[in-house]
Amino acid sequence: MEKIVVLTGAGISAESGISTFRDANGLWENHDIMEVASPEGWRKNPSLVLDFYNARRRQLKEVKPNAGHTALVQLEEKYDVTIITQNVDNLHERAGSSHILHLHGELNKVRSTGNPSLIYDWHDDLHIGDLCEKGYQLRPHIVWFTEPVPNIVTAASICETADIMIIIGTSMQVYPAAGLLEYAPRLCKIFFIDPLPNLTPSLTTLDNLHVIQEKAGVGVPKVVASLLP
Ligand code: APR
Repeated sequence: MEKIVVLTGAGISAESGISTFRDANGLWENHDIMEVASPEGWRKNPSLVLDFYNARRRQLKEVKPNAGHTALVQLEEKYDVTIITQNVDNLHERAGSSHILHLHGELNKVRSTGNPSLIYDWHDDLHIGDLCEKGYQLRPHIVWFTEPVPNIVTAASICETADIMIIIGTSMQVYPAAGLLEYAPRLCKIFFIDPLPNLTPSLTTLDNLHVIQEKAGVGVPKVVASLLP
């Protein structure tokens, strides 16, 4: 069975109604990204950070997977598919994809600030005073700016096994995720679906690159149809 590795970014969830990061003057839902998504922001104003992610978690209950998410599920009929996502939403899971690796954490999980291996499922608001079983404050299970990306090593080794790679809705600006492309084998066919594709030098030098300049809801079903008999 051929291996397809899909790398998704905020753009695949845009048509579900979740904002992307770099479309509005560096603001994310009216916040400076560093205030709500960095260890410094958490130290300075943990309540603001919790409120911000509480709003994101509530929003997740209101939105649904779109045609981009659901088309990817069909690929599993013929291919061994792994989705590596930079998104913290659960729309790939809800669409029905089987193998999903979250690079930047998950909105529906929280972890202990005193013992990071204590991770819990969490679907409702998180408050100051919500503690892990060892008595430490819980925080969102999100990889914030300047924090290490624990799943990057696993992601790189998955990319090394790709026959086909599909990149969807990412500005390819945030490392180490953007560097995953370097691990794809030389002959790997690469599809890049994005209405405003950021064709970085590491993309333009590839022989096997196919750019589909469309929104995910249109571009993903097209690419999937071309890969299925
Ligand atoms: N379909 C597909 N792509 C879209 C759509 C759409 N409907 N709408 C917008 N896009 C594209 C934009 O053209 C852009 O290239 O989605 C991309 C979104 O880029 P970013 O906002 O930078 O999101 P992403 O690349 O996922 O950001 C990476 O940065 O802030 C951090 O941790 C956060 O995971 C995030 C990481």
